[in-house]
Amino acid sequence: MAYYWSNRKYLLIVTLGLLFSFSCNNKKETTEKSESKKPELIMHKPSEMAMLMNALYAFNLQTKNQIIAGESPAQIPLDLLKLHSAEMTKGKERTKVWNSFVNVFIESQQAVADTLSSASLKSRYNTAINNCLACHKTECVGPIPKIKKLLIK
Ligand code: HEC
Repeated sequence: MAYYWSNRKYLLIVTLGLLFSFSCNNKKETTEKSESKKPELIMHKPSEMAMLMNALYAFNLQTKNQIIAGESPAQIPLDLLKLHSAEMTKGKERTKVWNSFVNVFIESQQAVADTLSSASLKSRYNTAINNCLACHKTECVGPIPKIKKLLIK
């Protein structure tokens, strides 16, 4: 029962996350203001990777709130190995930089749930978020301000 509710809460957060999702180049299209254009009804479909990233964002936001509230964080419901296979937005690819960061990130994200670790929960969590940022610095700069807000001060 408790699992059911926390899962629902999680889904809600993911949905909200998707609504406010960013893309890599975070430019507002202010130049394209031709008034004759009809508003676009069909939104472009986010890539599998973009959806995974938004789910990671939502999960970590939930984790941050749990840590601040003194609760033990929920298990991650996402398959991190999908980072190796998820299809990316056209024009994006797994670069050398990506490859050098992805496993470090996966390990640090898994370490957040490692109850036997001697490092504090907060420091393990912040390490994972700093690894999001490390990759984003070159691979996808748009969401950086949003990801920075995940850090626990
Ligand atoms: C190994 C590199 C790497 C790591 C680690 C990484 N990201 Fe990303 N992130 C990317 C790339 C590349 C994209 C663009 C994916 C696409 O558009 O297909 C992206 C996209 C995103 C987006 C935008 C999705 C959208 O709607 O377009 C968000 C938000 C995001 N990442 C958050 C995070 C968070 C939070 C973490 C850590 C928990 C993280 N990322 C870890 C490389 C990374």
